[in-house]
Amino acid sequence: MSRKILVTAALPYANGGIHLGHMLEHVQTDIWVRFQKSRGHECWFVCADDTHGAPIMLSAEKEGISPEQLIARVYDEHTRDFADFHIAFDNFHTTHSDETRHYSESIYRALRTADLIAVRAIEQYYDPIKQMFLPDRFIKGECPKCGAKDQYGDSCEVCGAAYTPTDLKNAYSAVSGAKPELRVSDHYFFKLSDPRCQAFLKQWTREAGRLQAEASNKMQEWLGEGDDNKLSDWDISRDAPYFGFQIPDAPGKYFYVWLDAPIGYMGSFKNLCDKRGLDFDEYWKKDSATELYHFIGKDILYFHALFWPATLEYAGFRTPTKVFDHGFLTVDGAKMSKSRGTFITAESYIATGLNPEWLRYYFAAKLNGSMEDIDLNLEDFAQRVNSDLIGKYVNIASRAAGFITKRFGGQLLHSHYIDRFRTDLPGIVEAAEEIAGYYEARDTARAVRKIMALADQINQYVDKHQPWQLAKNHEHEELLHYVCTVLINAFRLLTIYLKPVLPKLAQRAEEFLNIAPLHWADVGHLLPPAHLINTYEHLMQRIDPKQIEALIAANRQSLEAVAEVAHAVAPASTTATPPVASPIASANPSGAAGGEIAPQITVDDFSKIDLRIARISDAKHVVGADKLIQLTLDIGNGETRNVFAGIKSAYDPAQLVDRLTVMVANLAPRKMKFGLSEGMVLAASDSAGNTSGLYLLSPDSGATPGMRVK
Ligand code: 2FM
Ligand code: ZN
Repeated sequence: MSRKILVTAALPYANGGIHLGHMLEHVQTDIWVRFQKSRGHECWFVCADDTHGAPIMLSAEKEGISPEQLIARVYDEHTRDFADFHIAFDNFHTTHSDETRHYSESIYRALRTADLIAVRAIEQYYDPIKQMFLPDRFIKGECPKCGAKDQYGDSCEVCGAAYTPTDLKNAYSAVSGAKPELRVSDHYFFKLSDPRCQAFLKQWTREAGRLQAEASNKMQEWLGEGDDNKLSDWDISRDAPYFGFQIPDAPGKYFYVWLDAPIGYMGSFKNLCDKRGLDFDEYWKKDSATELYHFIGKDILYFHALFWPATLEYAGFRTPTKVFDHGFLTVDGAKMSKSRGTFITAESYIATGLNPEWLRYYFAAKLNGSMEDIDLNLEDFAQRVNSDLIGKYVNIASRAAGFITKRFGGQLLHSHYIDRFRTDLPGIVEAAEEIAGYYEARDTARAVRKIMALADQINQYVDKHQPWQLAKNHEHEELLHYVCTVLINAFRLLTIYLKPVLPKLAQRAEEFLNIAPLHWADVGHLLPPAHLINTYEHLMQRIDPKQIEALIAANRQSLEAVAEVAHAVAPASTTATPPVASPIASANPSGAAGGEIAPQITVDDFSKIDLRIARISDAKHVVGADKLIQLTLDIGNGETRNVFAGIKSAYDPAQLVDRLTVMVANLAPRKMKFGLSEGMVLAASDSAGNTSGLYLLSPDSGATPGMRVK
């Protein structure tokens, strides 16, 4: 019976790029959705960018653009990255949409009518310079427990202590550096402490199948036993200035981003319904007969298993059928790390020339539907992809196709062979339901193991019949034709099984097999007698370990460049963001302002440095970089250089255009996160490297681009 299914993956924040951690979830979700579609179910996959909140507002401000401009740009980057990894959303929307606003407001009104909204004054840190209340992440200070400096307002990265911002010692605003003041303001709360909510959630989180056992146990800890009333009310408002939706009848108050983020699932689906003529209510009304699944990471379980079902329940909507929670991605056994180059962006993976389906396959081979962390072991990754996909699966087609093309004009055996196929390769067709069961349970690791066991069986069949030997003797012509026909059919069946994981490879296989797109039900028949296939072209390359090295280098290099320059221009630790700077040489005059004079060098040493006058012909903000400006430098004779300079704190790009400055013209180009930097510009700063006290060098009037500076 055909099911109606709505599936979501967590909405990525619009203030950062997509990395392989995001991809783990989106690949897992995409495989499940593709599987459901292959089975003939009506399955919709929606997602959106999560666009609201103070960090996005502040990032946009730093870049000198509006939050709307920032989220529009990030939307393009996110959709590009997901498309590159073949994530086939039916709709990818934004939470900054009319649809999400509409449901946020109507849900809020329904909760208010149900007497589940309370207004209370709370005391909170306020930045008197920036004139805004500070989110916990924007307050820093000394850890109240271990005294570590520069810790965030919610937890200490050194000793792990959790606390509230008011516990910090010597707190300062990470936005402006100001000493924050405690101020009182009215906040709006969703009354989760209401006995109705507690009772509902205690029941909901225990209902069979809603949550994985591990998640359900975690929820019981949070909810408490028996008549315990452990949940506190949830603060759903933030004061202006804030980038988000205004709360109805509450001037100057905005919905907290986590209130409207999951409502973004509804917003995206409504947007899809309007485009496709689907019935929104059929999927979202209370007691809907359709199924609703959310794929999420374990860090946001709390929002999806407590706040979200309660919100839906008391606003009159259906609740999720199940929440599917997965663990974190580690790389080579450790947390993804920028300094090790293992914090791998989706963009860098593609730019390095790696095939996204290699990663899809590897993730599939590891995901088992539990909340365990998944490790991307880079050596194992290359080994496994090469041995399974190329050595086992693709190999079947390549071993049979040449004979069919060269000896039989591309035509499969003319006679009926189905019964013999089943006897010769028992279990290949019959495995379909077992494999489907693993996909359904999100245990893709078992699905892949089973499929590879079938591939082994098929390869043994090749070894047993040795088509290359049969081909030597014309008496065996018919048998050769039969064996190769069996192999092409076996390859087709494996393609059906692997297609949810490897959609592009399957598409190429379909072209080679000269058939319409495969669905699960096609397992029920083989290729017709005398079917014509196309000439085989290699379906997939092996991973070259050098590509993995390049990937790590690409993710590490940008950081090395950052660290090196951060050293030269590091701010005096009063900013929220880690120092992200760029190739900029910082001139250190003698004395207190510039610190110690560097060790002596010879004239020869100095003459190795080719300093040139450069005209800044263009200067631009760099997407996603806090401290960089991208400069185009004209160094005479029509030659230009692209340089990323960490001077954003001191200069506006518009001020720089047409200025003359001095650059190091013979510095080896350096690959950075944002592109290639081909040199450095010179600037002066004090020894602490305060980035606001940064002075770009300029020559006296009369100098022209390309002149050498000695
Ligand atoms: O944790 C995150 O990245 C959030 N942006 C996820 C939101 S999921 C949903 F609730 F919107
Ligand atoms: Zn501490």
